[in-house]
Amino acid sequence: MPLHEETTAQPDVSSLPILVAAGTSGETAELAGLLRSLGYSGVTAVNGPAPVPPVEVGASYRLVVLGLTNPLGTGLDTIALIRNRLPAAALPILVVSQALDGPAKRSALRAGANDFLTMPMDGDEWSLRTRNLLLMSDQYHAALNDKEQLRVELQTRSSRLRMLIENGLLMARTHDRTSLLRHTLFEGQRLIACDAASVYLVTPQNTLRFAMRTRDDALAQEEIPLYDPDSGAPDAHYVSTWCALHQQSILVDDVASETRFDLSGTRRFDAHSGYRTVSLLTVPMAARKGEVLGVLQFINKLDPATGRVIPFPSELVPLVEALAAQAAVALENLGLLDERRASMESLIRTIATAIDAKSPYTARHSERVPELALMLAEAAHAEAHGPLATFGFHTDDEWHEFRVGAWLHDCGKITTPEHVIDKATKLETIYNRIHEIRTRFEVLWRDAEIERLQALAAGDDVTAVETRCAAQKARLQDDFAFIAQCNLGSENLSQAHRDRIQQIGATAWLRHFDDRLGLAEEELARREREPLRTLPATEFLLADQPHHVIVRGLADLPDAGMGFQLDMPDHAYNHGEIYNLSILRGTLTPEDRYKINEHMTHGITMLERMPFPKSLRRVPEYAGTHHETLKGTGYPRKLGAADLSVPARIMMIADIFEALTATDRPYKKPKPLSEALHILHTLKRKGHIDADVFDLFLTSGVYLRYASKYLAASQIDAIDIQRYLGPVPVPQ
Ligand SMILES: [Fe+2]
Ligand SMILES: [Fe+2]
Repeated sequence: MPLHEETTAQPDVSSLPILVAAGTSGETAELAGLLRSLGYSGVTAVNGPAPVPPVEVGASYRLVVLGLTNPLGTGLDTIALIRNRLPAAALPILVVSQALDGPAKRSALRAGANDFLTMPMDGDEWSLRTRNLLLMSDQYHAALNDKEQLRVELQTRSSRLRMLIENGLLMARTHDRTSLLRHTLFEGQRLIACDAASVYLVTPQNTLRFAMRTRDDALAQEEIPLYDPDSGAPDAHYVSTWCALHQQSILVDDVASETRFDLSGTRRFDAHSGYRTVSLLTVPMAARKGEVLGVLQFINKLDPATGRVIPFPSELVPLVEALAAQAAVALENLGLLDERRASMESLIRTIATAIDAKSPYTARHSERVPELALMLAEAAHAEAHGPLATFGFHTDDEWHEFRVGAWLHDCGKITTPEHVIDKATKLETIYNRIHEIRTRFEVLWRDAEIERLQALAAGDDVTAVETRCAAQKARLQDDFAFIAQCNLGSENLSQAHRDRIQQIGATAWLRHFDDRLGLAEEELARREREPLRTLPATEFLLADQPHHVIVRGLADLPDAGMGFQLDMPDHAYNHGEIYNLSILRGTLTPEDRYKINEHMTHGITMLERMPFPKSLRRVPEYAGTHHETLKGTGYPRKLGAADLSVPARIMMIADIFEALTATDRPYKKPKPLSEALHILHTLKRKGHIDADVFDLFLTSGVYLRYASKYLAASQIDAIDIQRYLGPVPVPQ
């Protein structure tokens, strides 16, 4: 219902006629003539054998003059009928009679007559009585008029207030800038009953950009500068820029005759669109900090009675300013939300990039996993049928939440030492200790040489001495080559290999130098757990020494309340040489592996302690489940299928596929598509990853789209995806 701020004008009571009715036409005419002689021009005479009940006329008369005779007969009914409908002050009844007796007069009074006049009457008295009754009627109607106007005014104001309140609530709920602007414009137009409304927004370049209009006309594309580009001075020539720069509302009653502002743009727009702008109300949208965010312009105020274009009444301005302020606050809030989201995304991307930059082993992993995960999530969201049909992210916030979770999925790696992530050989700590061990072989080589020279000097058999020395040197070369090969971790070790490591390690050499000199405090403290030995001390070619063990500090213990179920080795690290060289497969000890897996406990702990807003409350879940498996064998919480949501299952596949196919990791050949998919299929069969999500990964073509973007052409080989599709037995 459009609101009309003007109340409909009530008729002027003094212009209403006086109704005259008497038993005969002659009497009626006489009474009417008398009234006219007193100067009352509006007299309606009703003739008839009996007075006509003026039921149908209601309050359209100022006064009823009834000419009655004795007995009253239908005259009494007429009085009663009028009075039943209207109070005495609303339509006074003056009874004029020739000779009414006392009981008849009382009956007439009881029925509702206001006064009596007896014919023939004195002209002055006739005039006085009539005027008094008319005055009463006029005052009554005037009071009624005032009351009605007050009622309409109150109704209008409360409707406006209600609309403003509803508007404020709706704006507070709106998370989308376009709907907010649309709502503001249409509500404003409705609130003040005008023909059109437009909004201009202030751009970062300090211009006003035409953002929206309630009519379907094409929006003007040009932007209006708020400041002169050359001088930098404020440019308030235009009504919109003046409004924005001065933060004041402006009323323009008639665009054609307006001289304060340059309205050539409006006229040009009118000429182009065929619209005719006459009156304007322009108000600034200023937010709490006083910064103007835009300008609302209401066009062509319509007269609610006639529909004609009229100037905007000035009393509308505060109302529209309140609406504009509401819109500005809501816009500012949206801006703050956008800024918060952008700064959070940027911070998160910085963290992810920093993690990726930490190690060539994880280069760009944190960046690509979210991309692949989002591709897969979009495919799942688009599913209308099948097991994933009910899955979907329904709001921008839900997508944002998933994106943030994916970006942070390996955030715990920020705590993982590079030398563990990058541990390329078994003896590697901060550096590859093969060099230290090779030096020991050099020492032994020279010991063999010294022994040879000493034997020759002592006159021993030359041939025997040379043969023994050559054998020693050959064995050292062979042993070192074996140890060096073991260090690479490229082959599985057999028990015989491990025995040989022990055996080689048992070779003794003499240390003549104090091994506690030049040590930092922490390392020295570790050495002090061992007894001090006198020099020269016997050392072994390879050894597991007490100082190789790094004790787990209390700070390294996971929070017991977090539900982590990682099997934790006793020590933080064990750098024992034989211990490391004897690793059966790969280069990592159980301690190293725990340290790497610890990125999840650290990551989840960090994320679950972060005060994420409600819209991001699932970030820890999305980030913290990619190493779990559906059958409950994953880490760090050994979750099962019931605990793993579709987004979590998407993250599992994205994480594995990226790691398998990445082309930019050192010491590792990227796997071709067929091999990566074969591995994923094996994980599907074993019940580690979700079969439906994996099938969708294939059928949606996401795997191929991702591959064509990030994999080398040589990795993209022919694959028959049909052999990987279909259900698998439910994991036990
Ligand atoms: Fe991870
Ligand atoms: Fe990862």
